[in-house]
Amino acid sequence: MNSSGDGFSMPLSREARALERSMMRDLIALTARPGIVSFAGGLPAPELFPLAQWTECLVATLRDAGPAALQYGPPFPPLLEAVAQLMDSRGAAVAPNQVLITTGAQQGLHIAARLLVDPGAASLVDRFVFPGVRQAFGGSERRLIEVDAAPGGGVDTNAAAEVVASTPDLRAWVVVPDFHNPLGSRLTAAQRAAVTSLAARVPVVEDDPYGFLDFAGQPRRPLVADAPERTIYLGSFSKVIAPGLRMGWVVAPAPLIEKLRVLKESVDLESSALTQRALARFLAAGYLEPHLAMVRRAYHSRAEAMVRALERHFPPGSRWSTPEGGMFLWVELPAGYDTLAHLRTALDGGVAYVPGAAFASAPAPTTMRLNFSNATVENIESGIARLARSLASARADQPAPTSVGSVT
Ligand SMILES: Cc1ncc(COP(=O)(O)O)c(C=O)c1O
Repeated sequence: MNSSGDGFSMPLSREARALERSMMRDLIALTARPGIVSFAGGLPAPELFPLAQWTECLVATLRDAGPAALQYGPPFPPLLEAVAQLMDSRGAAVAPNQVLITTGAQQGLHIAARLLVDPGAASLVDRFVFPGVRQAFGGSERRLIEVDAAPGGGVDTNAAAEVVASTPDLRAWVVVPDFHNPLGSRLTAAQRAAVTSLAARVPVVEDDPYGFLDFAGQPRRPLVADAPERTIYLGSFSKVIAPGLRMGWVVAPAPLIEKLRVLKESVDLESSALTQRALARFLAAGYLEPHLAMVRRAYHSRAEAMVRALERHFPPGSRWSTPEGGMFLWVELPAGYDTLAHLRTALDGGVAYVPGAAFASAPAPTTMRLNFSNATVENIESGIARLARSLASARADQPAPTSVGSVT
């Protein structure tokens, strides 16, 4: 143990000293208890994973490519082409040399931050944001400036414009355009136009792991289509196929892809040759679209079931987002609740969620994120009823309940 008594026998870097475990990871460990209905994890539905098709692609890859599938190798050109086509299907004209395969979108966030933001400089992020964005763009070395959501959903682009105008060392703006984590919201057409116009003044990092999960089956045109020179787009196969593949991609102007490739090399040399080849085969076989259609249908009915259950069971005065896609629903309870303090009681009552505080740098006691993709319709109904009961008991414990009314 060293003199500071922190349990380490060697001095650590400033970055390591500043590291904090993500509250979400700790929570998710707690929610794995048997009997818990969990709306906590940001997990896709495992029973919908395309296991048979993936097995077929993996076996065929090993059979046909042999040792090349297990060797170090450059990015696999057919995969770059397939990703470029996928972007094309969303209305973004992308050449294969504008694509970099990454180990998930999280690696895209990490290398985009290092590409754009000097230590000490600032990035603009949402007030409620996926913690991986804070880890990549913040930490001990880089500053984060937060922007609020717009009252009707999406991002407050007027507030963002003010930050852009008043922050000379603002180097990046991280935007999640569709089915935000945790807010479940998407940008309006006017907000999209405002972001792509502000991109002329601050580079946009478009973090888009959920855009393909549009319940109507018509994923929107990504921001990168309208500001291709000033946007770094991050895609992911985690939510559209499976997170265990650890496959994502970056789209950027070709000269930046070269820089990003070097940054990626410093992290993990390259993404798995085996997985890249199997994925290219999966996409070439046309397995993605029918799989996505099935996932969208399932998530849509789960989201609808959750909204119905909230309407039936949740305290009067609660508000929630109505998802048009993705995996999350955001709830704001009336004043007086404390979702962080309440979590243990909820777990004892057999249900889990993520308190809004897990996504924020300041307390957010009345907010919670609910995941609907990883629970059956039946579990959604019973889990929301359990959660409402535990919230009602929390209010009953308080000396002077006010605006909540009668909750059963
Ligand atoms: C907004 C957002 N960005 C990035 C990621 C990272 O995804 P990946 O599994 O592709 O690394 C996630 C994962 O949940 C996310 O919600």
